[in-house]
Amino acid sequence: MHKSDFGLIGLGVMGKNISLNVAEKGYTVSVYNRSSDGEKNVVPDFLEEYKSFENITGYTEVSEFIQSLERPRNIFLMIKAGEAIDTVIEQLLPLLSENDIIIDGGNSHYTDTLRRSNYLKSNGVNFVGCGVSGGEKGARNGPSLMPGCSKSTYKIISSILDAIAAKDSQGNPCCTHVGPEGSGHFIKMIHNGIEYVEMQLLAELYALLSVSYSNQEIAQVFLDWNKTDLSSYLLEITAEILQKKEGGHYLLDFVLDKAENKGTGAWSSKAAFDLGNVNTMMSSAVFSRYLSSLKEKRVALAKEAKHNKSFQNNLDLIELENAYRFARLINHHQGFDLMARASGTYNWNLNLSEIARIWTNGCIIRSQFMIDCISYFEEHLELLSINAILNILNESEETISKVIQDAMANRVPLDSFWSSYNYWISMTTAVLPANLIQAQRDYFGSHTYQRNDNDTGDFIHTNWSNK
Ligand code: 6PG
Repeated sequence: MHKSDFGLIGLGVMGKNISLNVAEKGYTVSVYNRSSDGEKNVVPDFLEEYKSFENITGYTEVSEFIQSLERPRNIFLMIKAGEAIDTVIEQLLPLLSENDIIIDGGNSHYTDTLRRSNYLKSNGVNFVGCGVSGGEKGARNGPSLMPGCSKSTYKIISSILDAIAAKDSQGNPCCTHVGPEGSGHFIKMIHNGIEYVEMQLLAELYALLSVSYSNQEIAQVFLDWNKTDLSSYLLEITAEILQKKEGGHYLLDFVLDKAENKGTGAWSSKAAFDLGNVNTMMSSAVFSRYLSSLKEKRVALAKEAKHNKSFQNNLDLIELENAYRFARLINHHQGFDLMARASGTYNWNLNLSEIARIWTNGCIIRSQFMIDCISYFEEHLELLSINAILNILNESEETISKVIQDAMANRVPLDSFWSSYNYWISMTTAVLPANLIQAQRDYFGSHTYQRNDNDTGDFIHTNWSNK
């Protein structure tokens, strides 16, 4: 009997849609889902619902599932990141053969992926940490795929991944060999970090515009911007969200203002700390989500706040548009800079232009600017070394400063915009007050400092106390 080309474990929303996507491309697919914990009917229900897909077979016994697969087996895990992955790996290992391949398509932490890859390699099994972006629709119709694995493993899986991936404007798959094990999940984590900031910038614009405009009017502003270089998937869906009505009212007005998160934004910020990289915008966006979750405390403190802010309707839409462009440039710069740092630290040799290319379709942060980044990173290592980018930032500095002042005048938190502005003015300030930090550290801890009036690089200690 012909064995299946592709095996999928985990018939959640993403797993179902990946399976259908693979089957639609003509591959034979075996699907498995545990039948415990109230999931007894998941497989039969899936097969019934999609019985038109005659090239999909379903299993509730993992040994039968494994036996149904063509070797070397391609087994795609779409299960919750964390211990569940390790549990499934232990369950599969005794049933696998040399050179079988396990692909983890969840949002796993890249250090877990490195650990699992080394463990499985010692057992003769190949492991791929594959970022998958695009949500339910992406999984079904074409995600952006970010596999990190050995080149030899990639050669085996690339045809199926290329077949199901979204396509860029040239018709090429939004999938590439990102680099060695761990690198795929690392860049997916950074994708999500950039995503958090893009979402937070839109939330801050919505808050500021709400001072003077209705949801419909704000949606129209975003729809107008979406016809410019600012166009993006997130801008487009945000305009849709703003217009969504329920019983004559805007549904958005009934959504509780407590942002959730599954952790990838925080992981990105931690990676920046671990790598000694400046990524102020991602941490700003993460903390804005955490702060929003303190709803009860905010409601109580709002009653205590004594401010005499008079709400001024002097928002300038052109200024806001330029401030948004400014902040997005800094966000993308910080995200790609963090990937460049990781690439150097871990010797991954990441191709930033190719990463931008696979993020031009299928994924959540797809945008016109991401298309521009393909050529930007073909010739440059970072966005801040590109004259066209520097010109936009220089020309918009005054504007974003004004927008931040407008927000302050209206008492609207604009932390991510402020973070982008603060990063820019700090990075373009030759002398910062860090000399005082060094002196303080040397005063109380004798941690020594360097002088700026010689280039010996020597570290010196001074007894700063005048007593
Ligand atoms: C994607 C999304 C996807 C998921 C987010 C949600 O690229 O398709 O980023 O991975 O929806 O991770 O993350 P939070 O729950 O942390 O916002």
